[in-house]
Amino acid sequence: MKEVKPMIKHFLNIADYSSDQLKQIIRDALALKSSPDRGNNMLNAKTIALLFEKPSTRTRISFEVGVHQLGGAPIVLDNKSMQLGRGETVADTAKVMSRYVDAIMIRADSHDTVLELADHAAIPVINGLTDQSHPCQVMADVMTVAEYKAPDLNFANIKVAWLGEGNNVSHSWIEAAARFGFTLSLATPDQLQPDANIIAKAQAEGGAITLTNDPADAIKDADVVVTDTWLSMSNFGSASGQKDIDAHKDKLTPYRVTAIRMKEAAADAIFMHCLPVYRGNEADAEVVDGAQSVIWDEAENRLHVQKAIMCFCLNS
Ligand code: CP
Repeated sequence: MKEVKPMIKHFLNIADYSSDQLKQIIRDALALKSSPDRGNNMLNAKTIALLFEKPSTRTRISFEVGVHQLGGAPIVLDNKSMQLGRGETVADTAKVMSRYVDAIMIRADSHDTVLELADHAAIPVINGLTDQSHPCQVMADVMTVAEYKAPDLNFANIKVAWLGEGNNVSHSWIEAAARFGFTLSLATPDQLQPDANIIAKAQAEGGAITLTNDPADAIKDADVVVTDTWLSMSNFGSASGQKDIDAHKDKLTPYRVTAIRMKEAAADAIFMHCLPVYRGNEADAEVVDGAQSVIWDEAENRLHVQKAIMCFCLNS
């Protein structure tokens, strides 16, 4: 007989939740950021497993610090040092971990792994990046846009331009456009477009999303300019990784955010990048380190928004 599970609040994709729920998470994150006690009892001694199949700086540190600040206990794990790395199934791993910890954050090679883990877990699972999406990153990005451009969380007049590969991070931006109500214009090479199904679903849900191969068209009058590394974490470590950069370099060079290109955006536009950044590839150093760049706030906001996401998932 199939086990009947109580409703579990996973955080797998931005599209899984309503605009109201997502805006409340952003409000909670802003409150945690300004809270003198940083929410120090909100996780009430809960234990959170942080499982990595890929390298990470921001996700690992911000989740580990966030759990500590909320009064919980983090356990950082990697698949290679677990039986998972020797063939124990994802389903069995999910069932065992559910007996020990209160939630799992996972960074996985494949989105299917996260879906399978969530399907078999009796506890919330949070997506810390897959080949399909990076919802925690884009929630931090939206929080940063709110701080600079939409303190009332009304994003209706905001235009976001994405320049570069249509990758996992861009997919979460597409889902966010449909939920938060900003206009999203993506400029990508024809061969490196985002998943057409994700765009179509977000558009059907009311998202104002356009796709072009002309970076000048996408960036025109944009309030927010976003790009990402040419070797995104979605294919980091794959045998084809470096080959992908070499093969795609010519295609991606016209989408580089140069200082000249940045002038085509609104005069007060902000520049965002989820990091790590490779100056001279996807963006000029003078943009990355310039006055319009908000990348360090964006990185800090991973901490605050992920604390709010953990509290949301655990009803804390
Ligand atoms: N942006 C991001 O997810 O950074 P890490 O890969 O360092 O976690």
